[in-house]
This record gives sequence, structure tokens and C-alpha cells, in this order.
Amino acid sequence: MRTRPLKVALLGCGVVGSEVARIMTTHADDLAARIGAPVELAGVAVRRPSKVREGIDPALVTTDATALVKRGDIDVVVEVIGGIEPARSLITTAIAHGASVVSANKALLAQDGAALHAVAEEAGKDLYYEAAVAGAIPLIRPLRESLAGDKINRVMGIVNGTTNFILDKMDSTGAGYQEALDEATALGYAEADPTADVEGFDAAAKAAILAGIAFHSRVRLDDVHREGMTEVTAADFASAKNMGCTIKLLAICERAADGGSVTARVHPAMIPLTHPLASVRGAYNAVFVESDAAGQLMFYGPGAGGSPTASAVLGDLVAVCRNRLAGATGPGESAYAALPVSPMGEVVTRYHISLDVADKPGVLAQVATVFAEHGVSIDTVRQQGRQDGDGEASLVVVTHRASDASLNGTVEALRSLDTVRGVASIMRVEGE
Ligand code: HSE
Repeated sequence: MRTRPLKVALLGCGVVGSEVARIMTTHADDLAARIGAPVELAGVAVRRPSKVREGIDPALVTTDATALVKRGDIDVVVEVIGGIEPARSLITTAIAHGASVVSANKALLAQDGAALHAVAEEAGKDLYYEAAVAGAIPLIRPLRESLAGDKINRVMGIVNGTTNFILDKMDSTGAGYQEALDEATALGYAEADPTADVEGFDAAAKAAILAGIAFHSRVRLDDVHREGMTEVTAADFASAKNMGCTIKLLAICERAADGGSVTARVHPAMIPLTHPLASVRGAYNAVFVESDAAGQLMFYGPGAGGSPTASAVLGDLVAVCRNRLAGATGPGESAYAALPVSPMGEVVTRYHISLDVADKPGVLAQVATVFAEHGVSIDTVRQQGRQDGDGEASLVVVTHRASDASLNGTVEALRSLDTVRGVASIMRVEGE
């Protein structure tokens, strides 16, 4: 074993960074044996230097992250700051000064992954980011390496623990969105400002990264269609139950049927209770992958939290250190397929539409005609007259597979009918 240690600079020492430092110390001998050389924490860049950080030598702590990554003797920079800047500048500066990089930064990779990969490749350094998607769950390496000989057609996952916790609560207790969110906040699952999670931004960044890797193409955050889950109601869950389904916030990346393009989207959707993703409870994550040769695979585990995310960071650190000792680099960006990303209108799926309609002769026929005129085939219709005798009824229509554009045209036309008093909800049905 080499005795000269590989030097690691840690950018950020919050929930994840402090766990990375702790595991580097407590597992030092095992890490050294697995890598073939010891790893040494050579510096820790933080915003608040006065904070006491157990197990970290105060002499290593600095507020000058730029000086740390410019030192020139750093082998690996671990970036767990998050956000776009200063993380992007620090990563490019680190690479320019000879370091490889391990990052957990989904927002940055989803926005600027291609450019950062280009910088790393040009410099002959590694850029690894297993922790950026679904925390501890090994996902990027299986997609990039284990399935490199296969053809992935679909990646569908629950990649945000906060929203899964909220939806699971709504499902199991009948609670409304706000009540479930309040509980998630009280238990520390949801941030004080939960926008990134509940509006689907966090999941969309992860979807962009997964789609790019799965389809060997460039997919950026802006390419991902995004709908949050704040409008999901207890009534939606009741409808889902009627259909033998539950509701999940899904990130779905698909290759088009003709293979000529891909789509990536995040939105709430009904999935059958028999689908493996339906059994993912609480704040857990899971990703369901469908490929030509392997068939169906599911990756499951904790998608957030200091220690699970640090596990993924440490796995990357070991891989990058091994590469450095071998004088090699691991797989970088693979975007050779260069498949374009199709707009949401071209996505084909099934829909559950709940309408408030006038309860009188001919209404059902009128509604069915609108679906037919837009080429959307109806699978089932369920009508329920209201007890209050106000001459209105609830009509639930479940369609066969149709394009999002056709469905939108249908809904627009339905809204213009006098007999349709309102469109209570529209939800996609996936996983059948
Ligand atoms: N906020 C994310 C979640 C974890 O709830 O899953 C970090 O991506």
C-alpha cells in the first residue's frame, strides 16, 4: 500500500459534510485498505468557522474555499455545499488545479452537467456525483456501468422523500395536503420553505440527471416537464383507492416508442397498488428501471439525510481515489446518442379525469363525444349522483393511452360545455 496519503478537501460541513468527515475518520483503515493508500482530510471550507465541529481539527477549517481548492496538492475535492454558485466556480477551479471532484449537487449537475463534464474530461480528472440522486441508493453507477451493455427504456422513480412522506400520510390517514405538510415540517422532513420539494424542482433536477445517463443524451433541468403536488386532495386519494391505486410524485424518463427521442417529467400520478413503487412508504425513495435485456429492476432505500448521503459520497471518494492511484479516470459523460427531448404534449399515458356535470339526459353522450373528437379513447366511466339533489353529478372518466396534447385539447373543450360545471381534477395513471 502507498503510504503517502491522498488529500481530500471538503467544501461544506453541514448535515452531509460532517458525516463524510466522521466516516473518513472512523473508517480510515478500511478506506485505506480499499483504496490502496490512506486518505487525509486536508481542509474543510465552511461559512461559520466558529461553530464547534466534533472530530474535526479546527486547524483544517477555513472560510476561504477558493484558496483551499487552489492549493495544488489536493487530490479530491468533495463538494457538499449545494446550489449553483459558488459551487460551480469552486468545482471548475478545483479541476483546473489538479483535483478530481465528488459532488452531491443535483441542481448544478442538472443545469450545467455537460459543461462540468467537459472541464473534467479536458483536464483528465473525475467528476462523480452518486449522492446527487436518491441519497444512499446506488443508482448512477448501476445505470452508467452495470447497465452499460443494456438498453434502458424507462426510469420511473420516487426521488423525493419529503413529498413521498406527505403523500403517504395523506393516503394512510385521509389527511389533506396542508395537514400532512405540517406534520412533515414538525418531524423535520420538510424544510421551512418546502417549495423545492413540493413543487417538484428537486425531483426535476434528479430526473434530468437520470435521463441523461440512462439515454446517453443531454437532458437539462429546463427540459423536464414539472408539476408539483400541492393540488393533490384527499378526494384524489379516494378516487385513487376506488381504482385500486395510490398517488405518488413520480419522476419519469422515457425513450419514445420509435426510439428517436426521450421525455422527462415530474408530476403526481396514480399508480396501481400492485406496482412495486406503490409500496414505497414514508420518506424512502425508489427507482424502477426497465431495460431490454435486464427487464425490470428496482432500487430502493433512504434518499436523503446526512449519513445515507455520506455513504454515496464516500463510495465515490473511494472510486475516484482508486482511479487516481491507477493514473486513470472513470466513465465521464456519455451523450453520444444525442436524442432530442420531446415536449410534454407528445407524452402518451392514461388519465383519470374527475368532472362536475349537470345530471340530466344527454350529458354523458356530450362528454363522450368531446373525448371522441379529440381521439381520446375512454376506458371506464363512473357517475355518481349527488345526495344534495342539486341536479349535479360527479363523472370520473379513465382513458386509454393518449397524448398529453390530445388530453389537454379534450379538457379545454370540456370546460367550454355548459353542462360541465367544473373539472375537479386531472391525474395521469402510470405503471400499468
Ligand atoms: N429534499 C430532498 C428530499 C432530499 O426530500 O428527498 C435532497 O434531495
